[in-house]
Amino acid sequence: MPHDTQKLNKQRQDLTQFSEIWLFGYGSLIYKVDFPFITSRPATIKHWERRFWQGSHDHRGTPEAPGRVLTLVPKPESECFGMAYQVTDDVFEHLDHREKNGYLRHEVEIFFTSEEQTVGLVYIGDEHNEAFLGPESATTIAQQILESRGPSGENRDYLLNLANALRDHNVYDAHVFEIEAELKKLIRLEWS
Ligand code: BEZ
Repeated sequence: MPHDTQKLNKQRQDLTQFSEIWLFGYGSLIYKVDFPFITSRPATIKHWERRFWQGSHDHRGTPEAPGRVLTLVPKPESECFGMAYQVTDDVFEHLDHREKNGYLRHEVEIFFTSEEQTVGLVYIGDEHNEAFLGPESATTIAQQILESRGPSGENRDYLLNLANALRDHNVYDAHVFEIEAELKKLIRLEWS
């Protein structure tokens, strides 16, 4: 699969089939939104988990020194917290461009509560995309995040802002918090 997924994403869903269009965000979309939306709600999706396994060449890193950002990996029995945004179809022009580095849009069931759900879209960079980096130890991931920066800013801010936003929502995410703890250790070492 080519790095640039914009063309593929345009062909993936007929957005006119949705009476409402909902987008599920599990990363920076939990704390920052750069597109207009109709309304937003905390939500979960089932059988997926957040992982810092996607390389970022265009936002939190560079082609020479990619950063690490989130993707989702399938995991039975899991639930992933995020924010759902009701949007109009025109925002996907912007989002497909922003997420062109390997992310594909997938249809997913979004749960607002145990009784209220809808079908929406989520961007996922799977193991077949060229920017996928895959698993490493928490320390190795934290080290890469510490050293990376790109046009959207410091990679460490992406992680720290996300961890704070999850805490604000009373959400525990072992993977995110373990890497955050390692990053903070490395930052302390830099200053000692
Ligand atoms: C997000 O939820 O912030 C997000 C993650 C990956 C691709 C697009 C959006």
